[in-house]
Parts: sequence; C-alpha cells; structure tokens
Amino acid sequence: MKSDLLARLNRPLTIGRTTIDSRLVLAPMTLLGHIAFRELLAGFGGFGLLFGEMCSAKRIPKEIRAGSAYFSWREAERQHLVMQIFGADPTAMATAARIIQEKGLYGVDLNFGCSVATICKQCCGAALLKTPDQAVRIVEAVRRAITIPLFVKFRTGWTDDPAIPVDLARRFASAGADALTFHPRVAPDRRSRPPRWDYIKRVKDAVPIPVFGNGDVFDETDCQRMLETTGCDGVAIGRMAIARPWLMAQMTGLLSPDAGIYRRTAFVMLDLMARHFDDRRALRRYKKFSLYYSANFKFAHSFYRRIGNALDLEAVKDALEAFFNGNPETMRRPNMNFFL
Ligand SMILES: Cc1cc2nc3c(=O)[nH]c(=O)nc-3n(C[C@H](O)[C@H](O)[C@H](O)COP(=O)(O)O)c2cc1C
Repeated sequence: MKSDLLARLNRPLTIGRTTIDSRLVLAPMTLLGHIAFRELLAGFGGFGLLFGEMCSAKRIPKEIRAGSAYFSWREAERQHLVMQIFGADPTAMATAARIIQEKGLYGVDLNFGCSVATICKQCCGAALLKTPDQAVRIVEAVRRAITIPLFVKFRTGWTDDPAIPVDLARRFASAGADALTFHPRVAPDRRSRPPRWDYIKRVKDAVPIPVFGNGDVFDETDCQRMLETTGCDGVAIGRMAIARPWLMAQMTGLLSPDAGIYRRTAFVMLDLMARHFDDRRALRRYKKFSLYYSANFKFAHSFYRRIGNALDLEAVKDALEAFFNGNPETMRRPNMNFFL
C-alpha cells in the first residue's frame, strides 16, 4: 500500500499553465497556516502547494508585507504559495488577486467555504454558496484579472444535497477556475459529522479541472482511501498537518519519523514563531498551534494546559522542557476528537 500511495502522490499535476510535483497540499487555516508554520513545513517538504491564511480582499491593497501577520511570505516559498482571499465584491476580489499576482505568488484561492458568523454576515465565505450567481461573478472577475492559477475552495452548501456542489463545481469551472478544493460538509457543520467523501467523487466526475479532496485525512490509510474512492487529483490536509507537520514528507517518502521528532518540532516551531512575530502574537499563535499538536500525546490535556497557562515565550519553553523531559507517550493516531 505504501508504494502505491507514494506513486499516487509523487506524480506531477497540471494546474492552469503550471505543474506541481506532489499532490498533497496544505489547506488554508486562519491563525495556523502562517509564515512561521509554513517555514516549519518547508523544512520537512512533501507538499505541492501551501495555502496561506485567508485575507480580506478589501484589506490587501493596504497591507504592507513587512508588517502584516497574514499577507506575508518568505522569498523561498513564493513559488508554492497560494493566497486565499475572501470578500463579496467582484471588483475588490479582482483587485486583491491582481496584487497577489504582481507579488509573484503561485496562485489565488477564493474562500467560498468559511462558515463562521463574522464572515457569513458580510455575505462572504460560505454565505456565497447561497447566492451562486454572485459567487460565479466573483470567479469571472478574478479570472479576467489574473493569469496565475485560480482556485476555489468550497463546501457542500447549506443543505445536504450532492446536486448542489456538483452544480457549483461546474459553474466555477466554466467561470474560469483552474482547480477546486472541496470540503464535503454542509456549511453549518463545523466538523461534527463525518465529511461525505462520496460527494467528492461526484464533484470530481463533473468537472474537467483538478479537484483536491479535503476533510478528515489523518494518516496514510485515509489518504489512500480518499484518492482511491473519490478519484480526486490531490488531497488538501488541514488540521493533521498542524498536528504532525512532517506528515506530508512522511507520506511522500521523504522521511520516516523518529521518536525525537515531537520534541524537536515543538522547539523549532517556537523559535520560528519568535522570529516571525512580536512576542504577544507569537504566544497567542503558539497556543493555537499547541491545541492541535497536543493531540499527539496520550495526555493531550496536560500538554495543552501547560502551554495555555504560559504567560510569555520563556514560560512556553519551560513548559515544553518539563513536558518532554517526562517522556510523554505518543498516540499512533492523534486524538482528533480533542480539537474537533
Ligand atoms: C482553525 C481552522 C481555521 C481554518 N481556516 C480556514 C480558512 O481561513 N479558509 C478556509 O478555506 N478553510 C479554513 N479552514 C478549513 C480547512 O481548510 C479544512 O477545510 C478543514 O479543516 C477540513 O480539513 P481537515 O480535516 O484536513 O482539517 C480552517 C480550519 C480550521 C480547523
């Protein structure tokens, strides 16, 4: 099975006028998929693309890369980085996309999947799935604005009917999207019910462009099963990439993790956060990271509580030392229930 998965993942995939060399990508995640985390991931490798945190299209023209927590990147990741934008206005989305292209980044991703209230209230994210004509207008406007790859990330919609994402996928492809990332859950479901992978197959079969399947891929077996049962072209991994930043390298055969990897990775992440962010932001983001990282350990709560109680980065360091000096037992499969 392992060699079959390697062969499936290490195959070039054409997206628009470009080609990527691994079919695993980092899914976009607010407060998690930031520049420091992406540097950590880049140290392991194995990914074809990295999707950044979502950025407001309206804010992008005012963002200054050097001072921005969201709209920032390292030169070395430019060719792999897809910036995700959210917004409701086609003109503002097109302007933001043009800026992303001018910055020399790999691509633009349209967020039609975020279901948090603050985003949906502005008629953005998953709210656009209720007004498909407007969503399509956005795709068309952005398509006219850029020549770099254009992605759309979306969910099932607001009712559990596979005909909805199939219709949306066809319309997004016709409007000029180069690839889709599909997370087959209805928008009101934050992740409490299992994703409907059978809907990924329907979406894949409906469009001529690459489809990245997404949702609950936690290990190699899941990944293999998603690729096999849905026929999707690639897999977008979210939470599990945070819990095990070496996972994509492991799945693509670049490394075989040793017992020390948990400790080393926790400290490297802390250094990277301190390098890229001011202390307050680094502390907040490390705590967010630790929620997912803690799922690796048998006593997840103990890890998370220690980090959560830390008042500064020095205290995080002490908490990490104390935790790892106790030789914590790790889980074969992380306890994803812990962080939903
Ligand atoms: C903390 C968190 C933040 C997220 N932020 C975004 C986002 O900004 N844009 C987006 O399209 N999806 C976002 N997602 C959804 C993920 O991209 C992904 O669809 C979801 O986590 C399911 O994939 P997984 O099971 O591999 O984690 C977020 C998910 C989490 C857990």
